[in-house]
Amino acid sequence: MAAGDTSNKLWAGRFTEPTDAFVEAFTASVEFDQRMYKQDIAGSMAHARMLAHIGVLSDSDRDAIVGGLQSIEKEIETGEFEWSVALEDVHMNIEARLTEKIGIAGKKLHTGRSRNDQVATDMRLYLRDAIDQIAIELQRLQNALLDVAANEAETVMPGFTHLQVAQPVTLGHHLMAWFEMLSRDYDRLKDCRKRVNVMPLGSAALAGTSYPIDRAYTAELLGFDAPTENSLDSVSDRDFIIEFNAAAALLMTHLSRFSEELVVWSSAQFGFVELSDSFCTGSSIMPQKKNPDVPELVRGKAGRVTGNLISLLMLMKAQPLAYNKDNQEDKEPLFDTIDTLRGSLKVFADMIPAMAINRENMAKAALQGFSTATDLADYLVRKGVAFRDAHEVVGKAVRLGVEQSKDLSEMTLDELRRFSDAIESDVFDVLTLEGSLAARDHLGGTAPNQVRAAIKRARARMLSA
Ligand code: ARG
Repeated sequence: MAAGDTSNKLWAGRFTEPTDAFVEAFTASVEFDQRMYKQDIAGSMAHARMLAHIGVLSDSDRDAIVGGLQSIEKEIETGEFEWSVALEDVHMNIEARLTEKIGIAGKKLHTGRSRNDQVATDMRLYLRDAIDQIAIELQRLQNALLDVAANEAETVMPGFTHLQVAQPVTLGHHLMAWFEMLSRDYDRLKDCRKRVNVMPLGSAALAGTSYPIDRAYTAELLGFDAPTENSLDSVSDRDFIIEFNAAAALLMTHLSRFSEELVVWSSAQFGFVELSDSFCTGSSIMPQKKNPDVPELVRGKAGRVTGNLISLLMLMKAQPLAYNKDNQEDKEPLFDTIDTLRGSLKVFADMIPAMAINRENMAKAALQGFSTATDLADYLVRKGVAFRDAHEVVGKAVRLGVEQSKDLSEMTLDELRRFSDAIESDVFDVLTLEGSLAARDHLGGTAPNQVRAAIKRARARMLSA
């Protein structure tokens, strides 16, 4: 068929002029919405079954439609199906092919339905499946973090604030902070899925349909929790996509934070971890380089997913009820977010267990920034010194340490007593990294036994998720 010809368009009845060739390509969505073919076919089959169930279609028409759709699905899967831009979108491509294959019964499929409720249904079915797949990758990453955290429950590293050494923490504790972020992301996705899994089909173009349709029947066939309540809202609502993208943007933001830390940690200056060669690339000019490309790229991709969220919000802003063609623009950002999120989670879930950890460098770094200074202040408080005075005493001790390039734990008792005679020989128990860690022994603290208990609770949560 020539571009611009309206003869095989499913809506051409009232038109006398052919579509402008450029407009035809400009308004078409088939290039990107064909990826919903499975959902479109499932929705059409359920619709046909419902129409037969209420007596609007004969059983033989229903069987012809279902059989025809099954063979179209095979044609698409084997690559035989010829997609046509002139037929605009996935919906009309499949419907036109159905009529080509089964004749008049194919023309009855669209009874009591519109592309407006059809596309909203397809999008919900598609996103529901995508959320389930994303949740699996997310859990794989969470489990990987739990395994590494369990191995590193006692590994000392510097904890940072302002990226300055603050207090010693265990690597297990640090990894569990990442785990907690992901665990909230998981809950957000699962919660969002509840609002995705409702069925707009039956809303037709905007007002419902004059046929005695049974929406509960169709909803059940398609595995939806319920039909939606309001036809106008149903054909125009894209909240579920925006909400998913918001959860995705936050998840990617979390991955960008891990990424940033991995980039810093794998630098020669830190040397905390070494990423496996299979997740890095070299430089074409500098032979010594091994670049942390994967975390860098994921850090960058977080921007793109947030961009998609903004696009979707702007797409919806000020749209009047009900369906508007603007909404065709929801697909590319949504699909891009799904692909980006799934890919980023997959690569992280594979990369984390393959990362080598340099415990020695971490412990050395923890000894460098006077990370037990707070412990010394707390010790003085226990000996009766007021906290502000203790703070001052420790500050002076740190100044000496800076001058002489030694840690507090490397000073002699006499040196320390110069600053306060409340200091006694038991001070060295709190000045060691291990002593500092063990002291933070409460729910949410970094003491190794607390980290192990947190991992245990997290594993139980994973099982019930
Ligand atoms: N391709 C369209 C979309 O993605 C399908 C719905 C079109 N409906 C309409 N009345 N033009 O939004």
